[in-house]
Amino acid sequence: MLQRAAAFAPSNIALTKYWGKRDHVLNLPLAPSLSVTLAELGTLTVVAPNPDLSEDVMMVDDQELDPAGMTKVRRVLDVIRQRAGTQVKAGLRSVNTVPTARGLASSASAFAALAVAASKAYGLDLSERELSVLARTGSGSAARSVAGGYVLWHAGESQDGNDSYAERVFDSEHWPLKILVAVVADQKKKVSSTQGMKMNAAGTSPLFNAWIDQCQRDVVACQNALRDKNMRALAEVVEGNALAMHATMMANRPPLLYWQAPTVALIHAVRRLRDEGAECCFTIDAGSSVVVLCEAQDARAVSDELASVPGIEEVLQTRVGGGARLVGDAG
Ligand code: DP6
Repeated sequence: MLQRAAAFAPSNIALTKYWGKRDHVLNLPLAPSLSVTLAELGTLTVVAPNPDLSEDVMMVDDQELDPAGMTKVRRVLDVIRQRAGTQVKAGLRSVNTVPTARGLASSASAFAALAVAASKAYGLDLSERELSVLARTGSGSAARSVAGGYVLWHAGESQDGNDSYAERVFDSEHWPLKILVAVVADQKKKVSSTQGMKMNAAGTSPLFNAWIDQCQRDVVACQNALRDKNMRALAEVVEGNALAMHATMMANRPPLLYWQAPTVALIHAVRRLRDEGAECCFTIDAGSSVVVLCEAQDARAVSDELASVPGIEEVLQTRVGGGARLVGDAG
């Protein structure tokens, strides 16, 4: 049965990163990765199958989605339609509560919300694992936005990608950390993660293969630090992993340098705060903003300190949240 359906999916931030693919169409990673789910910050998507439409159409924050984005959306919808045995196109509307171009990728929450809403709209009853696989075909990191809490994305081995899915390893209550996003303005249009990963494949960065090997070890160390709720151990692996990813990018030819001056100032600020006793650590995605995880009792002081760094536009605050979910029709 075809019906209108809506879903919300949260954004996530990788604690050990996905940066390197063994398949650039199916978004199959070379290494596993671990992430934490961001409560409230995410994407709400409504999918309405409509036999009168000759093409899928999608509005994102009241603007028509660009052709490159539409190709990825259609890829996910086509898989769903094939399984549902229908050709009917859909009208889609999406609203981001992640401030886009604010250093937080919206593609993870966008494709997770799409997978959940569209599979319901086309009458499929998919498991969390199947939804994760589906979301991944739109954007790799979206695989991690389905489950919620602390999430592990298995790299998988199969060519069709059916064993490359993410699942929760600890729920949000296990370690209810605060998550601060120190937003740094990007001075020019940045290279997207999709483009960056194509540029930064093996052979163009002398560090790339070592980086992938390190990720395999970091996932294990990170999961242990999360299990033990050990911030010092978490800081070592999370910061080390992010810095190693950026080192790999910087060593690329041509180099990929996402940092701005305030990015470096934030790194020093977090290290200083930790030396002074605050329980916190940072990570950085393919952008210039810095995400800081901290214990609830330190959140105010850490946030004030980050906000005082010159060049910081704002500091967003959230917490570890739950996974993607269907919501009542959001019209
Ligand atoms: C640096 O998932 O945005 O944020 O699979 O090409 O859509 P595509 O890339 P994407 O890459 C995210 C890269 C990252 C690290 C991470 O989230 O693990």
